[in-house]
Amino acid sequence: MSHFDYNALEYNVATRSGVSPSLLAGMFPADRKAWDNDPQFLGWPAHLQRLHAAISEGSARLVGGLEAILDEPEGSVQEMMGLTGMNRLGLDLVSHVHGHHSFEDANVLPGFLGRFPQLARAIDLLENDHEFLDQALDQSEGAFVVLRNEGASKTDVARALEQAKVLNKIINRHTYDEEDILIPAVLKAYA
Ligand SMILES: [Fe+2]
Ligand SMILES: [Fe+2]
Repeated sequence: MSHFDYNALEYNVATRSGVSPSLLAGMFPADRKAWDNDPQFLGWPAHLQRLHAAISEGSARLVGGLEAILDEPEGSVQEMMGLTGMNRLGLDLVSHVHGHHSFEDANVLPGFLGRFPQLARAIDLLENDHEFLDQALDQSEGAFVVLRNEGASKTDVARALEQAKVLNKIINRHTYDEEDILIPAVLKAYA
């Protein structure tokens, strides 16, 4: 395990602007424009991107759905249906992302570390991200679960929306950077 201050702005998933070999020694450069033309990309890398796209899409839909509910008249049928849908979508998203990270922590990241020891620092960052995201997911679960109650107020919806926006931002940052760290290693290994 390498040591860096994960809470520093340039590392923390909520504040950093990306990852690169200059930030994380040992990381392979990510040339996203070349990925589409790489025959190796169609295997596991494309699968990882599809999984991430599904997570990001669900997270964006949650933000849009909660914004729409805020515009519905209080106590209306539309509001009630929206609350039911977003309660389910939000809790499904939380459990889906928890499952995705658990699998990565138990299988994917140890596998990469064994095959690419030079990625130790980058993988440490991803593991820190997962811990940070776990806390955000727990907070989100609390905000989304109250949407099921018939008495959910506009304040509850606004709180869930704020939480969904935070989650969307850090999910997108983490999944993009995770691809930048893992995919170039695979493409290089099998080139
Ligand atoms: Fe991850
Ligand atoms: Fe992932």
